[in-house]
Amino acid sequence: VEAISLPPWRSALARALHRNRSLVYSRYAQLATVAGDGRPHNRTIVFRGFGEGNRLHDLKFITDQRSEKMMQLQANSWAELCWYFPKTREQFRIAGQCTIIDAMYPNPTDQKSRRITWHNLSSAARSQFAWPRPAQDLASPEAFESDDLDPNQPLDDFALLYLNPIQVDHLELKGQPDSLYPQSRCRYSLEMGEWRQRSVNP
Ligand SMILES: Cc1cc2nc3c(=O)[nH]c(=O)nc-3n(C[C@H](O)[C@H](O)[C@H](O)COP(=O)(O)O)c2cc1C
Repeated sequence: VEAISLPPWRSALARALHRNRSLVYSRYAQLATVAGDGRPHNRTIVFRGFGEGNRLHDLKFITDQRSEKMMQLQANSWAELCWYFPKTREQFRIAGQCTIIDAMYPNPTDQKSRRITWHNLSSAARSQFAWPRPAQDLASPEAFESDDLDPNQPLDDFALLYLNPIQVDHLELKGQPDSLYPQSRCRYSLEMGEWRQRSVNP
C-alpha cells in the first residue's frame, strides 16, 4: 500500500489554522484571479476546509456561479490566495489552478461534496444563492427575500471552488524561539510531482 504523503506546507497551514482557531476571521483569505485583459481582481472568501477523495490537498471555497470571479476562472484557472493569520503573524500565499464544481460537473464524488457542503451551510448563507444576479444594477429589496431553501437540493448557481496548490510562500514575522533569524520565509513548490521546500530570505 502506497503511503499517503501530505505536502510539506500542509502541516504548517494546519498548525496556523489550529493556533488561530479562536479568531473567526482567520478563515477569511483573499483570492486573486486574472481577467482577460490581464488585470488582477481580488476578493475575500471563506476557507471551507480541504477537499475529499482525490482533492485532499485542495483548498475548498464556495461561490456563486454567476459571479465575476467565475467568468475569470473559466478563461484562466490560475489564482493566488493570500492568507494572513493575525495571532501567529504569518502569511501564506498559495498559488495554483482552480476547479469549479457546478451543477453540471460530472464527477459523483464531487457532486456529493457539493451537496454536503450546501447542506452544512446556514439558512442565511444558502439564501444568498437565490439573490438577484451579482454586480447587476441594484434590484428591489423584495428580490432579496426568500423562504428557507431545501438543504438537500443545492441551487444551480451554488458552486464549489477548489484551489490546487503548486506553490506556497510562507512568511512568519515572529522570530522562532529556536532560530537565529528575526523572521522566516519558506517556499514550497511542486516540481515534477514532488514538493520541494527551501528557506529563503524574508
Ligand atoms: C468576510 C467576507 C467573506 C466572504 N466570503 C465569500 C465566500 O466565501 N465566497 C464568495 O464567493 N464571496 C465571498 N465574499 C464576497 C466576495 O468578497 C466578493 O464580494 C464576491 O464574491 C464577488 O466577487 P467577484 O465579483 O470578484 O466574483 C466574502 C466577503 C467578505 C467581506
